[in-house]
Amino acid sequence: MYNSKIIGLGHYVPENVVTNDDLSKVMDTNDAWIQERTGIKERRHVIRGDGDTTTTMGVKAAKVAIERAGIDKDDIDFIIFATLSPDYYFPGPGVLVQRDLGIKTVGALDVRNQCSGFVYALSIADQYIKTGMYKNVLVIGSELHSHGLDMTTRGRGVSVIFGDGAGAAVLTREEDTTKGILSTHLHSEGQHAEELSLIAPGMGNRWVTDIMEDNDPNDESYFPHMNGQFVFKNAVVRFSEVIVEGLEKNKLNATDIDLLVPHQANLRISQFIQKKFQLSDDQVFNNIMKYGNTTAASIPIALTEAWEEGKVKSGDLVVLAAFGSGFTWGSVIIRW
Ligand code: UT7
Repeated sequence: MYNSKIIGLGHYVPENVVTNDDLSKVMDTNDAWIQERTGIKERRHVIRGDGDTTTTMGVKAAKVAIERAGIDKDDIDFIIFATLSPDYYFPGPGVLVQRDLGIKTVGALDVRNQCSGFVYALSIADQYIKTGMYKNVLVIGSELHSHGLDMTTRGRGVSVIFGDGAGAAVLTREEDTTKGILSTHLHSEGQHAEELSLIAPGMGNRWVTDIMEDNDPNDESYFPHMNGQFVFKNAVVRFSEVIVEGLEKNKLNATDIDLLVPHQANLRISQFIQKKFQLSDDQVFNNIMKYGNTTAASIPIALTEAWEEGKVKSGDLVVLAAFGSGFTWGSVIIRW
């Protein structure tokens, strides 16, 4: 048995910055409300037609991660792509990355676990590497939310939160099993699937032709729906549980954490977790202020920035944790 370890990280965000004031020009919202409730100051939105998609952003992040990993793209044995906003209904973006990076015909897997997508994807990569099946795995989290949001006052409870961007990691085999990913912990509770969801178009629900035929101006089913307070209450409980689960599995305590990188759902959630585990500002990395919630991309973007700022050092205990639509949640415990 081996461990897996992250040897390269990269991120990409579109250039177009959308401030809270920009949003207040198209819907009834304001900077004070958004900052007070979420901590978000600005986010990035892809400008329609400028060529960026979930896949192209993922490819750009992946190129940086591969270069920093110091490997050749042809050393990659497997691709895992996490997103809730794929370019096509099918095929998923994993194969598009294989094509666009010009990688030989390795396997490509798409992960559909929303805000927990990157944590799920890391767990899958880790298992493939642990068993010796693959040596180098490319993991990408990328989202293009902005084209699918309700940018009117009706959608303000959701649309001010989400942003576009991508992050990527290259994982490789680590023979020292005291290093790298020590454990991953995954959960779901489908009972609450519709509390944070985008339900149409869906083959088992209403298809595109049904939506077009109905042509109902009050139809909100093709915009994301979130029962915000319910999601918030579940998030703080599940984040805490899954961090404790990961620490206990490795006989560690919260005091052993050098850096917690939480999924960037809401700064208030991160602050709640920080307080609960009595962590200092230096021990929790947040960048939601700049990017909003980028769902499956939020952890790899944050981890990349933390690494670039020298906040992730060899020997550090790094904890990743996520919660989101499904509900799904999970954690990754890493000895860097
Ligand atoms: O990443 C996946 C996981 N996601 C999360 O964890 C998100 C969890 N939830 C949240 O972060 C928060 O629930 C939100 C930030 C989404 C909303 O904050 P809230 O404090 O729960 O606000 P609310 O939805 O209860 O709305 C309070 C008021 C309402 O007005 P009334 O009914 O009190 O008059 C809303 O209509 O704020 C209003 N409101 C807004 N006002 C200005 C909702 N959205 C906005 C807005 N600007 N953008």
